[in-house]
Amino acid sequence: MDGNGRWAAKRHRPRVYGHRAGARAVRKVVELATEIKLGYLTIYAFSTENWKRPANEVQALLKLLKDYLIKELPELNRENIKVRIIGTQDRLDPSYLTEIHQLAGETAQNTGLNLNIAFNYGGRLEIIEGIKKLFQESKNNPELVDNLTPQTFGNYLYTAGQPDPDLIIRTSGEYRLSNFLLWQSAYAEIYITETLWPDFDKVEFLKAIIDFQGRKRRFGGIESE
Ligand code: FPP
Repeated sequence: MDGNGRWAAKRHRPRVYGHRAGARAVRKVVELATEIKLGYLTIYAFSTENWKRPANEVQALLKLLKDYLIKELPELNRENIKVRIIGTQDRLDPSYLTEIHQLAGETAQNTGLNLNIAFNYGGRLEIIEGIKKLFQESKNNPELVDNLTPQTFGNYLYTAGQPDPDLIIRTSGEYRLSNFLLWQSAYAEIYITETLWPDFDKVEFLKAIIDFQGRKRRFGGIESE
């Protein structure tokens, strides 16, 4: 969800003002995802590298996630949306962690859109945490390592049981993955738009989807007839 800072700077406002506008954009995008019956949507809200930002910005982002969950919970349940927070527990205050996971847990029974909020998320760390989990389990069950495949390793990631992403949308004209879903994005289509995240709305989202529908996906093979 890139470009919040630049969106705020254009308006001579602090960066946090842009993040608040970014949170409003999340609402619209989730709404459209529900309308078109998307199965899975992952939004990248805070990376393991974002701790390098000034303390007031980090605190504001932590608060924005919690406020979003508190405020949107009734609507998320009405719309049958299941929220999961994916990321590492490192550096997060345990009481804050309990609170956000409890809030997300209140949507656990829903069966519609699966909404992943990547928070304190880093793709490399996700892979390392997966390896550590596998290593622990393999102590009692060494075949786990012998039988490991790209498919079974996926079960050790935060997104266990979920399909790989088809489309990754990057706003504000940045041409990089920034440690996002590194394992899962092996064959994802990438769509880059100059639009800053707070301006990303339903029309922008539909433009990305229509562009995706025109892609020829070969997954390393050749085009079938
Ligand atoms: C990147 O833009 C954006 C972030 C690091 C934060 C995104 C978080 C939100 C929109 C908060 C809402 C979250 C939820 C779950 C409701 P940037 O700050 O790097 O912008 P810049 O590149 O223009 O400086």
